[in-house]
Amino acid sequence: MLHFNEKKFEQAIESFRLTRDDVHMIAAAMRRDIELAIQKDERTSLNLIPSSVSLPRGTEKGDYIALDFGGTNVRAAEVRLDGGKAAVTRRASRPLISKERGYNLVGPDASADELFDFLASLIDEATGGDHSSSFLLGHTFSFPFEPLENGGARLLRWTKEFAVKGVEGKDINELLRAALKRRGAANVMPAATVNDTVASLLTASYEHAGTFMSAIYATGFNACYRETFGGNERPIIFDMNAGGFSKVLTNSYDQLLDAASGKEGEQKTEKMVSGRYIGELYRLALMDATVRDNIATVTSSDVAAIAQDDADGKSRLAMLLGDDHDEASHDASVRLAEAVLGRSARLAAAIFTGTLWHMGAVTNQNVAVDGSLYKNVPLIQNTVHDAMTELLIDEPIESHPRIVTANDASLIGAAIAAAMTSE
Ligand code: GLC
Repeated sequence: MLHFNEKKFEQAIESFRLTRDDVHMIAAAMRRDIELAIQKDERTSLNLIPSSVSLPRGTEKGDYIALDFGGTNVRAAEVRLDGGKAAVTRRASRPLISKERGYNLVGPDASADELFDFLASLIDEATGGDHSSSFLLGHTFSFPFEPLENGGARLLRWTKEFAVKGVEGKDINELLRAALKRRGAANVMPAATVNDTVASLLTASYEHAGTFMSAIYATGFNACYRETFGGNERPIIFDMNAGGFSKVLTNSYDQLLDAASGKEGEQKTEKMVSGRYIGELYRLALMDATVRDNIATVTSSDVAAIAQDDADGKSRLAMLLGDDHDEASHDASVRLAEAVLGRSARLAAAIFTGTLWHMGAVTNQNVAVDGSLYKNVPLIQNTVHDAMTELLIDEPIESHPRIVTANDASLIGAAIAAAMTSE
């Protein structure tokens, strides 16, 4: 076996380990960073962005158009709200990158107009091409943005390796309105823009009252919660930009990944946790452990399948390692996949628990978590649950927070945000 070096594998696996104390320390640092951010103390690594919407009453009704933009696929839909119940009545979805069709609307070669024309074409599908009725549109825009007085949303900076030119610093609503007009669909009015974490919180709280915190665990990673200021001020939903939390310990693979990223030094937690980066982290560690100069691109779903070690995972791993691969290297590669996913989940659990500690409301809470990585990877779900149980050891187990997931939370939340503007 040319490429199996047990010691190197053990070192790589060890470098992804977070002990119980590490997780506890990170949760405590998260809590402190929230508190520093509220006091506007510069030592925080969090940038809390107040959302322009508050929690829904649950009585909102009507048909709305929703757009969900910020991951690998863009979705648009017509959503019917019916007082605490919501249903998607028409939907359209397309990826932002298609090799077969020869387009890439994520990279630096795409222009703002191309991207927004693409969004407008999906919206057109969601309205069934109706260019005469009036529609209110809610937009889930999953990047850090500053809410503007006129209801607009200025993109502060791209994350998740998006690099389309001419959008940073611009009002997203204006760009969308202009694209809808070019398409002859000025009858669709962008009414509200919310981050995906906020959309997911609106949906969870519309469907089950008693949810005050929500997270996205997908291409990107982020969380939001309702801040009550100890009852002294009007509550505000803060988008925490939790992916940018930086009080974490990185290993050599994190550092390599960061140095090669479009935004070096930014989004430290996101680069250790989210689907956009998990595959690359695994690839870097696997190359090091097997002493190879190159291994093909790895996706987060490859890592999840490899950790699962079923027939699909076995064949994906064999593709990566080729013939030069035996039982020992196989087992070590599976454990490495578990280590990368396990660290991601333990970090996420620390972020969630630190937030709950800050909220002072740990017991009998719902935490809404959405996103493909969380929903599709049992190892992640179980590890998040176990790590939170470990952190909350002092609380009676029956009152530990419940993690709830919802379908179409981003689309429904966008529709709820639009409905609230017309109340
Ligand atoms: C990135 C974005 C953030 C979003 C998250 C999840 O972290 O910056 O705004 O909520 O991804 O999509």
